[in-house]
Amino acid sequence: MEKNNIDYLRLSVTDRCNLNCVYCTPIEKDKFLTHNEILRYEEMVRLTRLFVQSGIKKVRVTGGEPLIKKGIIDLIKLLRKIDGLEELSLTTNGVRLKTLAQPLKDAGIDTINISLDTLKRERFKEITRFDFFDDVWQGLLKVFSLGFKSIKLNVIPMKGINEDEILGFVNLTLKYPITVRFIEFFSTNERTMKLANCLIDNSIIKEQIKNRFNQMTANTSSTADRPGPAQYYKIPHAKGLIGFINSSTGNFCNTCNRIRVDCAGKISPCLFSGYRYNINSLLKNNESDEKIIACIKKALESKGEYTKHIITDRKIEMSSVGG
Ligand code: 5AD
Repeated sequence: MEKNNIDYLRLSVTDRCNLNCVYCTPIEKDKFLTHNEILRYEEMVRLTRLFVQSGIKKVRVTGGEPLIKKGIIDLIKLLRKIDGLEELSLTTNGVRLKTLAQPLKDAGIDTINISLDTLKRERFKEITRFDFFDDVWQGLLKVFSLGFKSIKLNVIPMKGINEDEILGFVNLTLKYPITVRFIEFFSTNERTMKLANCLIDNSIIKEQIKNRFNQMTANTSSTADRPGPAQYYKIPHAKGLIGFINSSTGNFCNTCNRIRVDCAGKISPCLFSGYRYNINSLLKNNESDEKIIACIKKALESKGEYTKHIITDRKIEMSSVGG
């Protein structure tokens, strides 16, 4: 089998978050990584540079929530300067975007993904346990007004929670230049197993949208950007796209082009595998570029071993691998 070309790094810069979503429910406060365990910015930048030297072309900054991290704009500026990096992206819950969208744009962020599971303020409080819906909405409007290369909204449809909002989200694509992506819920640990029966198969969501907009057509244009797990569709005359990520009912291992690193310097070749390459001490001990690149290469080469799309480790915390 031909090996996938891994050119996309997801860099989690913190395991902390200013929300506490039901499907993620970050680890209890005393279990967060300590300051000393977390890589310093210079170490994150160095590691990213070495990843880029090893073939990575796109980097996405994730968390936890990256925008609660002190000095995040400075980190982004440093990442932007890395030679050979073609695209720099961010995934955020949007709570701090109203004030940070402009600095993020100035610092060189190309594309933004925002996680938002409801358009209702009261429901937002139930899902995230915080009353920040208005902040996210204003942040989103700010992002539209500035215009990024791509703006996406990640939505996890959940039975009994937000399943009545599918068309509301789709309507956003008529009015705004946004890609709304429906991501199937998956549980990566015992704690979130209790939500497993909230999973809605994306084929049901798709049917529901087709029933309302029967002219929805597949979209394979470059606006859906680089290869990835989502399939894209468009409603005629809409400003944006609709995407489906069938994380539970599908399997996109054979096109997976990504690798992840958490804020403590653990590289995950696969989201669903608990297998990690720990590069923390190499960085903290200031080992040579050659040594670190050798470890990165090993992790990249091991990607092909995971082609089953099965969660083999029930201890994965989405709040530390960053989605
Ligand atoms: N199942 C599916 N998607 C998830 N995300 C986080 N946790 C889960 C989960 N258990 C998605 C969020 C976020 C992205 C980074 O990861 O929608 O937008």
